[in-house]
Amino acid sequence: MKKIVMAILLAAFIAAFIAAILLFVFVVRPAKIVEKPPAPPVAVIGKAHAQSATAIADMSLPMPLGLKGDPDKGRVFFMGNCFTCHGVLGDGNGPRAYFITPPPRDFLLETSQQRLNRPVLFEAITNGRLGTNMPAWGKVLSSQEIANVAEFVFQNFISAPPKTEDQRNKGKQE
Ligand code: HEC
Repeated sequence: MKKIVMAILLAAFIAAFIAAILLFVFVVRPAKIVEKPPAPPVAVIGKAHAQSATAIADMSLPMPLGLKGDPDKGRVFFMGNCFTCHGVLGDGNGPRAYFITPPPRDFLLETSQQRLNRPVLFEAITNGRLGTNMPAWGKVLSSQEIANVAEFVFQNFISAPPKTEDQRNKGKQE
């Protein structure tokens, strides 16, 4: 009888021991192994902070290089080349937009309208956006032509009233 009790105790002890090891291997250790994402360098933190502090860009800044865009010429180019992604209305709902990730920028969103001033538009159109379908138009257009289309986008979309909640929801359904 005593032997049986001892055997049961021993079995229970071994079981508890195994359970403890399993617990350690699968529960405690992974938690320690999971690496913290590396902290961003201080410069990046500073930049992000500066951006959020000055989220609204200065919309009165002129085109770079002393350029003055012609919005009528810009409209022609936009309606021939940019609308396929950004939409005739600048709302990012062009015929190609559906197939593109991340989606083309919606110029009517408040976040766009607070950030995309003339110098930012000029830079974005010239260099494109790495990692997205936004082409670098600097390879095919002159600075003047880029200023033209940037001026058109600025006057017609960036300076337009921001999208209403209704328009935004409609955009999501399409
Ligand atoms: C093939 C699709 C495509 C075409 C054509 C295209 N774009 Fe874009 N564009 C994009 C995408 C995608 C983004 C989104 C990038 C992002 O999320 O930052 C973008 C972003 C932008 C931005 C915003 C960049 C920023 O910093 O937020 C501007 C300005 C812009 N496009 C202007 C234009 C103009 C002007 C043209 C025509 C000359 C054009 N795009 C043609 C796909 C396109």
